[in-house]
Amino acid sequence: MKITWLGHAAFLIEGRDRVLVDPFLTGNPKASVSYDEIDCDIICVTHGHADHLGDALDISRRTGAMIASIVEMSMYIERCDLKSVGFNLGGTAHIRGTDITMVPAFHSSSIGAPGLEFSAAMPVGFVIDSGKPVYHAGDTCVFGDMKLIGEMYMPEVALLPTGGFFTMDPKQAALATSLIKPKVVVPMHYGTWDPIDSDPKEFERLVNEAAPDVKVTILEPGQSLEV
Ligand code: NI
Ligand code: MN
Repeated sequence: MKITWLGHAAFLIEGRDRVLVDPFLTGNPKASVSYDEIDCDIICVTHGHADHLGDALDISRRTGAMIASIVEMSMYIERCDLKSVGFNLGGTAHIRGTDITMVPAFHSSSIGAPGLEFSAAMPVGFVIDSGKPVYHAGDTCVFGDMKLIGEMYMPEVALLPTGGFFTMDPKQAALATSLIKPKVVVPMHYGTWDPIDSDPKEFERLVNEAAPDVKVTILEPGQSLEV
């Protein structure tokens, strides 16, 4: 299975299906691909903020990819005449050959439409199993129930925000890693803009102290990890 970081919180997970997560490509100064080049079968959106919902609607319109999100966001996506599965925390959506479980994230969520910014219910994370379980934490602070996510879904790979300011910083994300206990952890949601310009090497150093069994893989946008 191949996991490619497309920059910010955007990843392409290629297992039984091609699963695109939080495809913020247009306007992303670190995006490794343009929204009209990407192909996928499923799109997972953790919350409504523009740096996560991103190009999801346009990509779904072009590719026919099903969008998986929380119910309230899904209602909006359906009104845009796109294929959508709306589910909720603790639930698993079986889409094609992939199981997608929705897990909590502590953050906020809204969608910006012309002249209107409206609440998009809760932000979430996902455990995506398209061959091996991958936990994408979305935007979140650290929370104790990450231990439960680790125990229940045993993610092989955890994709964790480390930029601080809007999410966990390296210190919190290292603690999160020690709770989740994945085999591999990949930092994300850093370096896109000044306020989240944390050093992934600092994250690596802290994980080596807090969770020495976990391998830290630092990717450049466009780089892939094979698991
Ligand atoms: Ni956000
Ligand atoms: Mn964000």
